Amino acid sequence: KRPVIIDCDPGEDDAVCLFMMFADEQFDILGITPVCGNKPLDFCTTNALRLCELTGYTDIPVLKGAPKAIFREARTAGDIHGATGLGNVVLPDPVKTVEDEYAWDFIYRQAVAHKGELEILAVGPLTNLATALLKYPDLKDYVKQIVIMGGASGMGNMTPTAEFNIWADPEGAKVVFKSGIPMVMMGLEICYDAYVSPEDLKRIRGDKGGRVAGVAADLISKRVDHATANGMPGGVLCDAVSAAYMIDPSVIECEHVHVDVEVSGMLTEGKTVVTRSFTENAKREPNTYLGCGIDQPRFIDLIVAAVEKIDAQ
Ligand code: BDR
Ligand code: CA
Repeated sequence: KRPVIIDCDPGEDDAVCLFMMFADEQFDILGITPVCGNKPLDFCTTNALRLCELTGYTDIPVLKGAPKAIFREARTAGDIHGATGLGNVVLPDPVKTVEDEYAWDFIYRQAVAHKGELEILAVGPLTNLATALLKYPDLKDYVKQIVIMGGASGMGNMTPTAEFNIWADPEGAKVVFKSGIPMVMMGLEICYDAYVSPEDLKRIRGDKGGRVAGVAADLISKRVDHATANGMPGGVLCDAVSAAYMIDPSVIECEHVHVDVEVSGMLTEGKTVVTRSFTENAKREPNTYLGCGIDQPRFIDLIVAAVEKIDAQ
């Protein structure tokens, strides 16, 4: 099995990302490392525990993550993901508790133990990973790849130029992109291409009354309504796109580019600067596979299959 750690800030789309990863038997999910992002750390941690219990994956350890960006105060997404971070879905308080180990120590320990085979799926601000890389400089030698949802090549959702996960901790993101670890980035553009239409939403909910299918559909429905009311074909579910890449990279086409992070621009703080130039002055060595095309129907199939599988267990 592929050893993987999921770093996240659940989060509506983080929740669907977790369902997809939980359901796929090719992964050995070593742990979940929550981070301050969509909501303050405590909320994200509790939501991770709740989602493990909802799905029955209670053996997956949930670690202690970073309560704020490395060099900045905590930045969250306010109530974009509802009051708790899980939209209108109400889940019981978890019985399961958080492990007594920090995310960065856990990541390093697992990376060394798995001798270069560890993959990290990171769908929140990159603070936990950056902390691990700063504390353990040789970590870069033990991680096979980092697949992130974050950034964009020409748009933003927190500012005209910055995507939330990178904007929330630009310095942390910079450390990760500069680490030398093979990077895969699903930015905003591909996430918008991977929309969930009203028809797709019906398929995800299914007709068997499945609990996890119902929760997934409830988490997505507000986004679908909002998008279609604004003339778009469907809602976005960013973090699920990164899970799709992990599960089946053939669903997503990538280009090899250089990515760096703007940490101090007056108009561009938190922007991922994507370089495709080939002139002597502007060219940069590629360090990231950037998702640039997705088979949307197959993406939806992966979500449907995941929730059906968990509900059938
Ligand atoms: C990203 O920001 C968060 O709100 C989502 O969970 C996703 O990871 C999208 O910009
Ligand atoms: Ca997220």
